Formats: sequence, C-alpha cells, structure tokens
Amino acid sequence: MVIEASFAVQLHACADRLFHLLECFNGARVLVVGDLTLDEFLTGQVERISREAPVLILRHETTKQVPGGGANAVYNLAKLGAQVKAVGLFGKDDQGRSLRSIFDSSGIDTQGVLIDPDRPTVTKTRISGHARQSVTQQIVRLDRKSDDLPDPHLQLQLAEYIRSQLSTVDAVVCSDYGDGVLTPTIISAALSHSRTIVDAQTQLQRYQGATLFTPNLPEAEQAVGYAITNPQTVTQAGFDLLALTQAEQILITRGEEGMSLFDSQGREQHIPAFNRTDVFDVTGAGDTVVAALTLSLTAGASFWEAAVLGNLAASIVVRQFGTTTTTPSEMKAALQALLEE
Ligand SMILES: Nc1ncnc2c1ncn2[C@@H]1O[C@H](COP(=O)(O)OP(=O)(O)OP(=O)(O)O)[C@@H](O)[C@H]1O
Ligand SMILES: [Mg+2]
Repeated sequence: MVIEASFAVQLHACADRLFHLLECFNGARVLVVGDLTLDEFLTGQVERISREAPVLILRHETTKQVPGGGANAVYNLAKLGAQVKAVGLFGKDDQGRSLRSIFDSSGIDTQGVLIDPDRPTVTKTRISGHARQSVTQQIVRLDRKSDDLPDPHLQLQLAEYIRSQLSTVDAVVCSDYGDGVLTPTIISAALSHSRTIVDAQTQLQRYQGATLFTPNLPEAEQAVGYAITNPQTVTQAGFDLLALTQAEQILITRGEEGMSLFDSQGREQHIPAFNRTDVFDVTGAGDTVVAALTLSLTAGASFWEAAVLGNLAASIVVRQFGTTTTTPSEMKAALQALLEE
C-alpha cells in the first residue's frame, strides 16, 4: 500500500480525528430504503452427464446466502455498529424469510420491510461446480425478479413508515439498484430527512436535493451522458452532477483510482485508493463506502473525512471474496497500518 506523499501528509494531519470518528460509529441510527436482494451461492461436485439432456449433474454440497444490493448496504451499516432500520420489500417466499432471519440475527430492525405478495424477493443464485479435487467455477446464474412496480398501496405504506421514523434516525440512505422499491412516492418520503445519502444506479435527478450522491464511474457517465476518461472529464462530471442533482456534495467512486469529491462551493478533492495490491474482489465495495461514509457524517465528520473513511473501509473489503463487511476495529488497524507506511 503506497499512497501519494501529498495525500499522506493530509492523512497524518487528521489521523487523531479519524480515530476519534471511528469511536463514534457505534449506535448511530440509520434508516436504509433499498432494493433488498439475496445473493445465493450453491455448489456441488460433478457426478456425471445426465441422460435426460447433455448437462452436468452436480451433487449438492453447500448453500450460502448473503445480503446483496441494498441489503448489503444495510448489512455493512450494522456490522460497522449502527442501529439500522431497513425499509423495503420481501416477496412471500423462502428467500425473503432467509434475508429476514439474516437481518434479525444481526440486530437489524425489519419492521419497515413489508411483504409484497406479487413480486419475488430479488434473488441472484449462482450455481457452481467442481470435479473431484479441482477448482470451483460458476456454471449458471438464476435471477428472480419482477419488472412490475410495487402495488401503489404498498408504496404508500412504505412512505408512511419512512415518514413516521424520520425523527428517530440520524441519516437516511437510499440504495437504489433499479429493482423497483424506490418509486417517486417513496423517494419523496426519504428525502424529507435533512441528511440523505443516495447510491442509485440510474436516474439520479429523481433524488434532487439529497445531501450527497455516491455514483461509481459508469453511473456518473450514464447520468452526465459522456465518457469520463481523464482528469478534465472527471472534474466536469463532478460539477455537472452537482448541477443535475442540486446536491451539497458528489462523491464519484472510481474503482482503482479511488474517489473524487465535489462540493457546491466549487471545491474538488481526490482521494487515492488505499490499496491497489491484494485486491481480490471489488463486488459490493460501493455499499461499504456508503455505510462507512454515512456513519462518519453522523459522527460529525466533514465530507472529506467521511470520504476518507469510506475509502478506508473499501480498502479492507476489496481484499475478501464476495460482498463483505468490515468493523470499526478492523478500520482502526488498517488506518494505523496506513500511517506507518
Ligand atoms: N481495483 C481496486 N483497487 C483498489 N481499490 C478499489 C478497487 N476497486 C474499488 N476500490 C475501492 O472501492 C471503492 C468503491 O469502488 P467502486 O467505484 O468500484 O464502487 P461500486 O462500483 O459502486 O461497487 P458496487 O456497486 O459493486 O458496490 C473505490 O472508491 C475504492 O476505494
Ligand atoms: Mg455501487
């Protein structure tokens, strides 16, 4: 992990403050409105070729179920110590029950997660196989989802729940993976809070007036309508996104290039990725950024400090396979290691 000298100076200057902020993650109250997804991983050993069709027959070995999409943002917040209220929809199915029990066992409040009898719990099931003593590889992925929007009554119920909880939370996160929960009715309820963080794959302008947006590079490109290929276009996109969304701040997460923060006073700051080696799996890193950043803001961080802590949390999860979470104590250790370089 080698970071630029000028950034290292800035980091050393605020190190005490960052350690202090990490102490304050515990107990922050956050409401997350999201497209709650279940990620499923089934594996088995190859037995033979079927006689029904030219396909492999696998002997089932393991099933792993983990929160995905907006549920991963919820889960990351909980593991960082927050008191999380999840808001969204589960289908009337086993996948929804699994996700609810994962949430329950992590102390996540699921009162705001309603059952939608018309649409399945969004589920992505990867089926992987391996021959005896060989590597496991994915063979097929099966997605369960609906293209219909939730019933208007259900939308109103969710919006009502959100409004009833606003005064009990320190921040609201919208985690919009395009799966239908974030309708205008629900967005408008969520944006009634004074601190709103939006991680949306498309249509950022629907969240006009939110505090902060965290698009990744492809999402930013899609929103501004041009390719972001060099420092000039990064800057232009940052300010175009501020104009489009009327936000206080825009944080573009740029994968291995780290992140860039823009504010409505015309300031622009860049944070390099903290580790460019030992990167195994970047899936879900954006959800981890949102979680750590939100808790930093509720602890009183500046936007820059919050972005740095988001980046720090991401540098930990990209070293692990699959969507993962981290904790304040792992973050403290990673910060200490970064300062000692
Ligand atoms: N290849 C990488 N090397 C180092 N750090 C990375 C890499 N990819 C991502 N990161 C870290 O993770 C942060 C978020 O990554 P990215 O911009 O890919 O988010 P994302 O596409 O929204 O992720 P997802 O939607 O899968 O949650 C980056 O700002 C950076 O700190
Ligand atoms: Mg993302």
